[in-house]
Amino acid sequence: MIDLNQSLRLVLEQIAEVKRILIATEHALNHKRPATILVTSAAQGEGKTLLASALASTAAKSGDRRVVALDFNWFMPALHRGFALDLDHSIEEILGAQLGEVVSPSGQDGLDVLVAPRDHDHPQAPSRQIPRGVSRLVDSARHDYDLVVIDSASIFPTNRMMMDPVMLADVADGVILVVQASVTPRQQVRSAQKLIETAGGKLLGVVSNRWQGAVQSR
Ligand SMILES: Nc1ncnc2c1ncn2[C@@H]1O[C@H](COP(=O)(O)OP(=O)(O)O)[C@@H](O)[C@H]1O
Ligand SMILES: [Mg+2]
Repeated sequence: MIDLNQSLRLVLEQIAEVKRILIATEHALNHKRPATILVTSAAQGEGKTLLASALASTAAKSGDRRVVALDFNWFMPALHRGFALDLDHSIEEILGAQLGEVVSPSGQDGLDVLVAPRDHDHPQAPSRQIPRGVSRLVDSARHDYDLVVIDSASIFPTNRMMMDPVMLADVADGVILVVQASVTPRQQVRSAQKLIETAGGKLLGVVSNRWQGAVQSR
């Protein structure tokens, strides 16, 4: 199996699709700046992290905006892998610091990354403080950057780190739902859509990720 770093390089070589998704997203948000986009999916492993990384990287390449990608999937963090970054900070440090003290340069101009905490799976995590800390970090990101891309957990099963993507949907300006084509049951995608919209999230669109493992329907 190829890793996320390799996948990101492969996806970035086939940049046209990602550019189209970015253009459609910006259009749906009326070219708002700063803009905060949440990438989520109904189930795990549908390609959220890969898409969030590719969108952030492609947007930064345009050179006209500062971009930050935030890993708010502390249940199963992966954003650091695409950019080959280490998990340097603890939950407490991330929740207590200024955003600028905890983001890492991605290695690409104009793009910073907030990776997950190194103790993300630690049972003593102060989970009650997480939602407030996360909203504060998103507010800072909106202040410091033109585009904020949030990589989040899947909507099902309900995650345990109090970083519910449904809650984050309300904080973001718009939500992209990644669907692994021909794999994720339609009903599950509909339920995810309903949850996002009921929570006040604005669904910008669905990205159909058809890749290996997907059963061809025709
Ligand atoms: N379109 C794609 N092309 C190649 N590899 C992909 C594609 N979509 C997902 N993958 C791979 O599938 C795995 C799961 O993707 P990931 O983005 O981590 O999903 P999620 O964040 O939704 O759990 C990763 O190993 C990723 O590299
Ligand atoms: Mg992921």
